Amino acid sequence: MSITSHLSRTLTAKEIFDLVHQDLHRVEEEFRLESVASEEAVTRIAGHLQKSGGKRMRPTLVLLTSKLFAGRDPATSVQLAAVVELIHTATLIHDDVIDEAETRRGDSSTNAIWGNQTAVLAGDWLYMQAFQIALRLRDFHLLDLLISLTQRMVEGELLQARLIGRMVQREEYLELVDRKTASLFSACARLGAIAGNATEEEENRLGHFAWNLGMAFQLIDDVLDFTATEDVLGKPVGSDLREGKITLPLLVAMEQASPTERADVDKVLADRNYSAVPFKRILEIIEAHGGISYARKTAETYTGEANLLIGQFPDSPAQRALQSIPDFIVQRDF
Ligand code: IPE
Ligand code: IPE
Ligand code: MG
Ligand code: MG
Repeated sequence: MSITSHLSRTLTAKEIFDLVHQDLHRVEEEFRLESVASEEAVTRIAGHLQKSGGKRMRPTLVLLTSKLFAGRDPATSVQLAAVVELIHTATLIHDDVIDEAETRRGDSSTNAIWGNQTAVLAGDWLYMQAFQIALRLRDFHLLDLLISLTQRMVEGELLQARLIGRMVQREEYLELVDRKTASLFSACARLGAIAGNATEEEENRLGHFAWNLGMAFQLIDDVLDFTATEDVLGKPVGSDLREGKITLPLLVAMEQASPTERADVDKVLADRNYSAVPFKRILEIIEAHGGISYARKTAETYTGEANLLIGQFPDSPAQRALQSIPDFIVQRDF
């Protein structure tokens, strides 16, 4: 289910859906056309991930932010929305190889079907295709932004790899969230501003707005890893700890945990499975120390900041749609 179909159900503003749904169709078409490679595996992998769903948060952000500006070039905004979904898709493919994930978007992951080697190469191809599309716009500022962003995301995955299997500090955790998720969100809004011919100041302000959205988005992703169900989420729950990742709900709980509680968490971290200590026990430990509500409150601090920033833009249908995204992010269950 895409974000727009969710919004159209839950919010009064049907106009939000009407605002982007035609453009999103064009983005899907662009994505499909641009992911055709002379090696069939790439085309199939891209098709597999396109078909299995996804919220299309990032292209929606590009489209909506571009619509804030009268100087918008609709074709450019659609192109850039396809670029960010291609980059996102490439990162998901690589992330699932690194995390040895078997499920993505409620279906088998790319690595589970095609194997690690093909998955890595398909991810590389899709990254390059994203740059290829962006290059057509002949805009160095844009390319600079996309290249820095991609390097930052890769650095995020490297930092994650370095932190795997051990307790982390809050600063390390937030740095990770910034790099692996908030940086892409921020870039999406900046791309929207570029497609809208916005001023540098407007681009910065929108970038800041979406950075806060991205921080909240990943915090909630980390909460849902504990609280959701696989059916709704489209990926197994309890994965982060099984993969050796300590995220905010658990990190907070560990700061106050008893030696026995700590030992239980360390056991899962070392075993990388819930055989000796069941997932339910981990949830109890987190709940005993208010880890979930702490992480949710932290996410709300970021969405609060995002609300303030988007509130500074003049009222318009696109501005109202953007104003409803912070709430969507913290209330989502998928
Ligand atoms: C998954 O992103 C990776 C994270 C940053 C948590 P999404 O939750 O936006 O994935 P899709 O595109 O909707 O599947
Ligand atoms: C998401 O990290 C970061 C990406 C850039 C893909 P996660 O490892 O938390 O993402 P999921 O939970 O696998 O979607
Ligand atoms: Mg992962
Ligand atoms: Mg996750």
